[in-house]
Amino acid sequence: MSPESLAGRDLISLLDYTTEEIQEILDLACEVKANPDHYDRALEGKTLFMYFEKPSLRTRVTFEAGMTQLGGHAIYYTAADGKIGVRESVEDVARNLERWVDGAMCRTFSHEMIQNLARNSEIPIINGLTDLLHPCQALADYQTLMEVKGDLAGKKLAFVGDGNNVANSLMTAGARLGVHVTVITPKGYEPEGEMVAACRAAADTAGGTITIGNDLALVEGADAVYTDVWASMGQEAEQDKRNAEFRAYQINRKVMDMAGEDAIFMHCLPAHRGEEVTSDVADMPRSVIFQEAENRLHAQKAVMLQVMGGV
Ligand code: CP
Ligand code: NVA
Repeated sequence: MSPESLAGRDLISLLDYTTEEIQEILDLACEVKANPDHYDRALEGKTLFMYFEKPSLRTRVTFEAGMTQLGGHAIYYTAADGKIGVRESVEDVARNLERWVDGAMCRTFSHEMIQNLARNSEIPIINGLTDLLHPCQALADYQTLMEVKGDLAGKKLAFVGDGNNVANSLMTAGARLGVHVTVITPKGYEPEGEMVAACRAAADTAGGTITIGNDLALVEGADAVYTDVWASMGQEAEQDKRNAEFRAYQINRKVMDMAGEDAIFMHCLPAHRGEEVTSDVADMPRSVIFQEAENRLHAQKAVMLQVMGGV
């Protein structure tokens, strides 16, 4: 599949992309990382609209810095400036934006809202995290896994914690890439069944597997152990309840030893040190958390180059 074929495409879920298209983005991300100067005018004169309903460090800074590095410009706009769907309908916002800018990256609570924006505008809409998915994170994570461990097909990634947006995205991309993804959660916090079924169907085609379980021993033999906060943005009221229910799922030295000495540690960040991960694990030599954060920049530059027509 040639990169041109991605021009104009939305990035809402990585299940909407083929194995070859995802690999194409990952390869371009590595190329952009190695030769950034080659792309410094690739999106000259283009504008990205960035909409945030939730806080952000990595997503906001990497998309904005990424646009600058590609010769374009990014506009930061939050729900405080005018909540989409409240001040004005989602459809009308979409029809305005497509007349001014070349792409939009949105971080919303509702996954349906971002789908609705995509349905109603001609410009590419990029998912910067919804309650359901965080595809840009998964792209940076698989770029990182590929850099550290080589070819992704057949690798084993064990996600421990809440079956949340990050877990879902690791499953969607992992399924397409032939990765063996295991999601280990406390009972009642498994990823939702429809998402698991869709990922299993994709994994069957690509040669990977999706395993869901509640037993921490499933980390054994993992190439990567991954965790995320126990209470995601919007779930703050459940923090205390979740802290109690997730306590046994903390990633500490014992869990890393259970995984094996070659297992790397991954986290999308922000981390709540002392909760889902101990500081000694977050800072151990085989922790790649800041490499993942760096790769947000490169992976998203690759996405913007492809969907906004810069390659
Ligand atoms: N990992 C991630 O998306 O970080 P931010 O919430 O800071 O953007
Ligand atoms: N699951 C987390 C990811 C943050 C990047 C959240 O949604 O808050």
